[in-house]
Amino acid sequence: MAKIDVSRRQLFKGVGALALGLTLGKILPPKAQAQKINASRWPWPYVKLDPKTTAELAYESWYHLYCGAAVINSVFSQLRKKVGQPYLSFPIKGFMFAEGGVAGWGTICGSLLGANIVTNLIIGPRLTGNPTGTLMGSEIMQWYTEAKMPLYVPKNPKVSPDKIPHTVSNSPLCHISVGKWMKKAHKALHSPERRDRCARVTASVAYHLVELLNLWKEGKYETEGEFPSGEFGITAQYNCEDCHGENVPEPPGEED
Ligand code: HEC
Repeated sequence: MAKIDVSRRQLFKGVGALALGLTLGKILPPKAQAQKINASRWPWPYVKLDPKTTAELAYESWYHLYCGAAVINSVFSQLRKKVGQPYLSFPIKGFMFAEGGVAGWGTICGSLLGANIVTNLIIGPRLTGNPTGTLMGSEIMQWYTEAKMPLYVPKNPKVSPDKIPHTVSNSPLCHISVGKWMKKAHKALHSPERRDRCARVTASVAYHLVELLNLWKEGKYETEGEFPSGEFGITAQYNCEDCHGENVPEPPGEED
């Protein structure tokens, strides 16, 4: 009798473990099951991604998530599959508000906000003692201001590429970046051309972001990022004359 009881208990244990395994297997990819990840411990696990695949994902997801969340989605949706946590728990769609330079206010281009969120979550915030994530975000902003946007041409463009002119924003601001492009293209904010231009800008940023993250993963990333506030004595962008003309004011110094 005792012998039968033991074997039945073992049988039940086996069935239970199998059932649990099957349930978890349905919810989480295999790697996530094995990991116990603390999202406040940096860096987050990262595997190298293909820039082109990432840019395509960013382009396609712009049409339902818009610039900021599309950049985050282009990277994190791949890492959800390849790595698991903490990406599975990260609410990508919650960042849709970055659209239009944050809720339509034309401040930072949402694709840049998205890129900064990604670098600072993967590499970590400055308080870890490592400023690389923040500086990589800053480097992407500098690169964006000088790029002939949009750089990336998608595989299946929704608007013919010859209808999308290129402009240099000289600024990380959505208002200025979109404004200079609208002036050159003579297209309204809600035109298919302006929408496709921003989807391509988003793809261009996602492409470059992954190029830099891949270098970092290989241990070859040397940042060109800076804190402009440290240089100018005021939080700033480099295009002072665009707004101030020739008489760029001097901020009060620390001794004033
Ligand atoms: C996107 C437009 C824009 C850019 C770019 C910009 N500024 Fe400003 N800045 C402003 C506006 C608008 C004000 C507010 C001006 C006012 O109230 O008179 C201001 C205020 C300031 C002030 C404080 C007000 C004053 O007169 O002392 C300083 C200093 C300043 N800017 C310096 C700079 C410097 C240096 C740069 C480049 C590194 C720069 N700004 C880039 C728009 C800009």
